[in-house]
Amino acid sequence: MAQKGILAFSGGLDTSVVVKYLQEEHNMDVVTVTVDVGQGDDHKKIAAKAKKLGVKKHYNIDAKKEFVEEYIFPSIKANALYQKKYCLATALARPLIAKKVLEIAKKEKVSALAHGCSGKGNDQVRFDISLRSGSNLPIIAPIRDKNLDRETELAFAEKHGISIDKVAKKFSIDQNLWGRAIEGGELEDPFNEPPDEAFIWIQTKNLPDRPTYLEITFERGIPIAVDGKKLEPIKLIEYINKKAGKAGVGIVDHIEDRVVGIKSREVYETPAASCLIEAHQDLEKMVHSKHQNKFKSIIDDEWAYLAYSGLWNDPLKTDLDSFIENSQRFVSGIVKLKLFKGSMRVVGRKSHYSLYNQEVATYGKGSTFDQKLAKGFVELWGIQSTEANKLQEKRSTKT
Ligand code: ARG
Repeated sequence: MAQKGILAFSGGLDTSVVVKYLQEEHNMDVVTVTVDVGQGDDHKKIAAKAKKLGVKKHYNIDAKKEFVEEYIFPSIKANALYQKKYCLATALARPLIAKKVLEIAKKEKVSALAHGCSGKGNDQVRFDISLRSGSNLPIIAPIRDKNLDRETELAFAEKHGISIDKVAKKFSIDQNLWGRAIEGGELEDPFNEPPDEAFIWIQTKNLPDRPTYLEITFERGIPIAVDGKKLEPIKLIEYINKKAGKAGVGIVDHIEDRVVGIKSREVYETPAASCLIEAHQDLEKMVHSKHQNKFKSIIDDEWAYLAYSGLWNDPLKTDLDSFIENSQRFVSGIVKLKLFKGSMRVVGRKSHYSLYNQEVATYGKGSTFDQKLAKGFVELWGIQSTEANKLQEKRSTKT
């Protein structure tokens, strides 16, 4: 009996090539798993594609709810932006996909785990480590093992009658509810402006002449309502993706440091993520003390770094999760965002737990803040700095 291999299957170029490779070079029966994290693909088409490739069994797992509640929401609480820019859309989905693949691997009693990642990207790191955390089965990664490039893959696909759509031919795309990543092609020259055709979620032309407002309600760090309407987690993200996308908001273009050391030019469409993280972070500033704000930003950076780097299950990440979860107990309130022709900014916020006190802050009459106390405070606050400057200047002129 042929050995059985399992593969996380998107229906794209890489994973289609891997199916054929497992069948032909490893003589394996292939089980494919498509995990729906909101990539918006047609399940039936993917299942038909898998069938056409001759897989033994194909699974489609709807993991959207779990993705939002267990992966996206924690990332909002952590204001997670890798290198201050990337909302981790792809990075967050990988441990969940691996988890689902492992569940089916057990059920199907497979003898090998496979993925379609190259040896140049971050996804191999995320898949390998997540799969390894739950299984000792061999991992087969043909694109990496054979050092395949896109041209060779496209030729291989053509030879095997694997159809690839036009945008996918031009760019390498990965998308889910939290964002759309666009890489490759003309974007590989970091000085080239991304062409309009690269964007699907975000309008880049004929943007509305009037601003769009978004009012986001958070409860304990989680968005629960938008524009006064309570929305289920998935709907909420879809709603903001649409609304902000129409206002041209959410394009990110930056140079990213991959785990393997390569610098890459990354372009993203992340309307909901950009708005929600901006709003959440703003609300935290209102309800947290200055010391909490300063310390949490260090924790947040580390959280994003671990999630990006495939260390989702590292004990340190679990420790940080506990800290972050506890820090969210007063992060409840409403943040108002103004979106206009591609720009986005917070224009209002309120919270029952606000530490902002207008009576103290006002420059007007009747402030309860006694300015006279500030004089002594400032003197002591700066004593080391001012003395150091004076002393060191004196000593350096002597020697
Ligand atoms: N650089 C991002 C990450 O590592 C996105 C990768 C997206 N993949 C793609 N084939 N476009 O998470």
